[in-house]
Amino acid sequence: MRRLQNILVTGGAGFIGTNFIRFILEKTAGFSGRIVNLDILTYAGNRESLEDLEGRYGGERYFFEYADIGDRAAVEAIFERHRIDTVVHFAAESHVDRSILGPEAFIRTNVTGTFALLDTARNYWREAGGALRQDVLFHHISTDEVYGSLGETGAFTEESAYDPRSPYSASKAAADHLVMAYHHTYGLPVTISNCSNNYGPYQFPEKFIPLSILNMLEGKPLPVYGDGRNIRDWLYVEDHARAVWLILQKGRIGEKYNIGGENEWENIKLLRVLIDMVARKASLDPEKLRGAITYVSDRPGHDRRYAIDCAKIKGELGWKRELGFEEALGRTVDWYLANPRWIDGIRTGDYRKWIEKNYEERR
Ligand code: NAD
Ligand code: TYD
Repeated sequence: MRRLQNILVTGGAGFIGTNFIRFILEKTAGFSGRIVNLDILTYAGNRESLEDLEGRYGGERYFFEYADIGDRAAVEAIFERHRIDTVVHFAAESHVDRSILGPEAFIRTNVTGTFALLDTARNYWREAGGALRQDVLFHHISTDEVYGSLGETGAFTEESAYDPRSPYSASKAAADHLVMAYHHTYGLPVTISNCSNNYGPYQFPEKFIPLSILNMLEGKPLPVYGDGRNIRDWLYVEDHARAVWLILQKGRIGEKYNIGGENEWENIKLLRVLIDMVARKASLDPEKLRGAITYVSDRPGHDRRYAIDCAKIKGELGWKRELGFEEALGRTVDWYLANPRWIDGIRTGDYRKWIEKNYEERR
């Protein structure tokens, strides 16, 4: 079991990073170390998502550092200040639609930013004689999208060839290659996880599930791209957090682990289930919600199907998803219904404008 003390979480103000920090501080036994959340608070980052934890643990076990992963001087100072021994690298531009409209930020953060972070870790973890410490870990969070698109059958394994098809997935694939290159070339202790689509609390409502929930509550159209028959494998975010936690403790250095929900849904079928659930929980008319389904033009290069073979992490680390889909989706809907203040808080900047522009362009 690896001993983790000072963990640098990049992108901890985003969806998965926030859930991961909550999981580590509140739901793990045996971790008494410190979490440093490094985030530049882009449109997708929200410090308020961890406000309560900041109150409970701030200055003792939890620290927020406002910085860009690409700013080497700032990141170096953070490594020094907190004597970082573990990096969990979530920070990224994460939305495929945005990567199609403006790929540059994806290259800057996901590729160049990851490179800067890797190189800073390599310098900081170098011992006096020049060798790299081996009691540390750089864990990189990646996506199943690096493997490209599947036909009707099969699932991605850790050996599947990389075949990214959007600027987002290409930038994540490039980052994965850099992480492995730092391991093979310089001996940096690394692990990578490639996860399928996450859902749960605190997800920015430009992604399919939270966008659909909020549009239902606001009486807005429910956009479905193309024929609605693209397939995604959905995993509850806390199951992802638990998987990453296991990798940090027991994952083998230099290895990749696929993480998936074994839970494939066509988009349109998922939307119908979500409609019934939101209608029930928010006392809305399901017929009216079904009438709001609006087929819009397809995403260019839209990957047809993702599916994950997660036998490796199950067999090696004993991971499995804990909640059933209905229950976890129900918790997600409950969370959005119970947190209007969080939702109002993110309705700033370009959120609504961007969503509406994206929708108008597809109609
Ligand atoms: P998100 O967009 O919700 O959050 C990203 C966070 O990174 C934000 O807090 C943002 O402020 C921060 N950030 C962005 N650029 C930064 C920079 N240059 N410096 C510092 N911070 C920066 O993303 P998410 O959905 O939480 O995804 C987290 C990670 O998980 C990403 O690496 C993503 O590729 C990966 N992933 C996501 C999913 C999913 O379904 N959401 C699935 C598999 C993998
Ligand atoms: P998304 O949540 O953007 O995740 P990803 O592109 O990383 O899989 O989209 C999930 C699926 O839902 C994808 O096939 C695109 C589709 N989609 C819609 O049909 N309508 C929408 O409004 C959005 C945002 C996505």
